[in-house]
Amino acid sequence: MALDQIEPLKQAALAELTAAEDLKALEQAKVNYLGAHGKFTALLKSLGALPKEDRPAAGKLINQVKTELEAALSSRREELELKAAMPKEATDFTLPGRRRALGKLHPLTQVTEDIVRVFRKIGFVVADGPEIEDEWHCFDALNTPADHPARDTQDTFYVDAAGEETSRQLLRTHTSSVQIRVMERQPPPIRIIAPGRVYRRDNADATHNPTFQQIEGLYVGKGVTVGDLKGTVEFVFKQLLGDEVTIRFRPHYFSYTEPSFEIDFSSPLVRKMGKDWLEIAGCGMVHPQVFENVGYDPEVWTGWAFGFGIERVAMIRYGINDIRLFYENDVRFLEQF
Ligand code: DAH
Repeated sequence: MALDQIEPLKQAALAELTAAEDLKALEQAKVNYLGAHGKFTALLKSLGALPKEDRPAAGKLINQVKTELEAALSSRREELELKAAMPKEATDFTLPGRRRALGKLHPLTQVTEDIVRVFRKIGFVVADGPEIEDEWHCFDALNTPADHPARDTQDTFYVDAAGEETSRQLLRTHTSSVQIRVMERQPPPIRIIAPGRVYRRDNADATHNPTFQQIEGLYVGKGVTVGDLKGTVEFVFKQLLGDEVTIRFRPHYFSYTEPSFEIDFSSPLVRKMGKDWLEIAGCGMVHPQVFENVGYDPEVWTGWAFGFGIERVAMIRYGINDIRLFYENDVRFLEQF
């Protein structure tokens, strides 16, 4: 063996390694040079034939070349492995990316948030109460007598039928129960709204659903008048549905307010729906008995309250004619908002 054989062999090996087109060809190249019967191995074996004084230098050189070849081998292997892992078909990196479908807030949540935003502007805070209520907070404290039709099992979902003499549990039929809960736990003055879900034993049709949502409002202070109530309601609806909105109060009866009114609402949108007025809320001046029931002095405190349906507002705002659409969770409906 001659030392000058080493360099050409190394060049040939490197050329073959880098030319390998796939992992199989690379393995073959490795066997050809570094395998048990490879050319390099053979060269190594022939070291013994060298004159003694040349052996150390030759051994050093061969080892150096071997390290070099192994490095070239493993770097080519990495390249080829990467190539093997790539998709077989060409990738068009100019294609638009895949978008994730983004969720949105439910239209009723959007409307609720808008209503809350308007009330916050005039100093109201959000209050909350349980959906599973008792008869006291839902009816008795609101001055609703035991024989009132709203309390009938036909209209109210009672959770436990037993123990009729105590305050039974029920699914609240309105958010007015939150008025009582708030007044029981804090002294006046009060300025709250309470959005939330309510339940009634109604059969679902275009305008009824066994569950729907209301917003309750309660304002308690000194010298509060119907004028404050009307001004507030008008401000809120104009903010929500536009300046062309007009409202009117019609005398009505609620056990927890005196006097009581229903609020009708008119706007170009309402007229487009073929109506002059739409009933939208109930309201009135808090009944003195309600103040008594929560321990407020009715000689000192006055206040107003209202409650309206959130679906109603959403239906007017978006021109929706069937309340059940809000509860079907059909994305074709929901994604429009
Ligand atoms: N609770 C009534 C309902 O569900 C709405 C209502 C009327 C709320 C008058 C009030 C009120 O706070 O004062 O139909």
